[in-house]
Amino acid sequence: MNVLVIGSGGREHALCWKIAASPLVSKLYCAPGNGGISQIAECVPLKVLDFDAIVAFCQSHQIGFVMVGPEDPLVAGLVDRLDKEGIKSFGPSAKAAQLEGSKGYTKDLCAEFNIPTAAYGRFADADAAKIFIAAKGTPIVVKADGLAAGKGVIIAMTLDEATAAIDEIFSGKFGAAGAEVVVEEFLEGEEASFFALCDGTTALPLATAQDHKRVFDHDRGPNTGGMGAYSPAPVLTDAIVARVMREIIEPTVAAMKSRGTPFKGVLFAGLMLTKTGPQLIEYNARFGDPETQVLMMRLKSDIMPALIATHDGTLDKVKLEWKDEAALTVVMAANGYPGPYEKDTEINGIEAANALPQVEVFHAGTRRDADGNVLAIGGRVLNVTATGATVGAAQAQAYKAVALIDWPEGFCRSDIGWRAVAREKRSM
Ligand code: AMP
Ligand code: GLY
Repeated sequence: MNVLVIGSGGREHALCWKIAASPLVSKLYCAPGNGGISQIAECVPLKVLDFDAIVAFCQSHQIGFVMVGPEDPLVAGLVDRLDKEGIKSFGPSAKAAQLEGSKGYTKDLCAEFNIPTAAYGRFADADAAKIFIAAKGTPIVVKADGLAAGKGVIIAMTLDEATAAIDEIFSGKFGAAGAEVVVEEFLEGEEASFFALCDGTTALPLATAQDHKRVFDHDRGPNTGGMGAYSPAPVLTDAIVARVMREIIEPTVAAMKSRGTPFKGVLFAGLMLTKTGPQLIEYNARFGDPETQVLMMRLKSDIMPALIATHDGTLDKVKLEWKDEAALTVVMAANGYPGPYEKDTEINGIEAANALPQVEVFHAGTRRDADGNVLAIGGRVLNVTATGATVGAAQAQAYKAVALIDWPEGFCRSDIGWRAVAREKRSM
């Protein structure tokens, strides 16, 4: 079967790497891809929101399955369009992708179906939001309703900060995403990422993972898309996983089905593990980045039958096997990220890093010049990923690989995996 992957990040490189290993796949394409994906798939310069061009490409290249990576084409209805054309794909319809596309939609769904999440209010005007905040007090969390590339969430410690956040969102800075705000109670606890494949009826949990959102060591500095991740996440014990499935994932899948908008693809729950139990922070309707990089390193089974089963509604027949080993990925980002950064800086040493045992360097924002040199063109640029017997061993190997990469214009955190490594040390 010919397969097309949509996207250009480290998540898509890891998905391409795993999909390329499937005996079911004869030819792999990626649109638009990046400087790493081009080594394992044929990259096609299609825009992820140009649905006509994507459909035309699928038809002229006998594409049997399309794997959609990022949220924008999902929320804009790429899967609906591919369905109409009779092309199988992975991901939710535009209506089901509202779980990610509108925070207010998800909060209302949680309220209606009793799914644990922070108490909240939804507002279309600033004054009403400010009255609500004054009544609730701080700390409090202010969010733009729509997709804001992870930048529309402000954790306000004072009333002034909360008021400024409301004004900022309604100022138009976030475009249509800021037409409404969600204000919610601040939850305390440890965060974890939870993924379940869904076929509209059945949910199949994947291995556990934890992300590092803050840009600097010791979880300091602004939030980013994720500076590193590891799997398994020991904080997600079997008992907590069972609870998350029962209290959060399964009721959501049932609710979406009962609304006539069944959820297919991967449901990615951002969780806060509070003293009273797991609470949903938010849903994403796609795989996590960089969590996918560690999940793909640990997945033993062929991924293609599982992806196809989410479309066909046969997930109840799929079983996934995972390696016992841990995996950890360190994100190398351009100096300045998540703010402005330089582009087209040269990176060397990737081959040497890749040659280390149990290491894969996945590319995110890279391209190759005419001579094949790797240039950085994004904020998050490389995902240096390793496996090991423990998270600590995977961490040591990943940083050994990072040390071989020569890129003066880039940086990374030096403490990815710290919570799990501390837990491992305590239990030794
Ligand atoms: P979101 O885009 O909704 O996942 O929010 C981004 C980040 O903000 C989360 O990963 C959390 O670190 C933080 N956050 C969001 N909502 C809350 C909340 N209600 N309480 C505490 N932290 C939150
Ligand atoms: N790493 C978090 C995300 O993909 O949104």
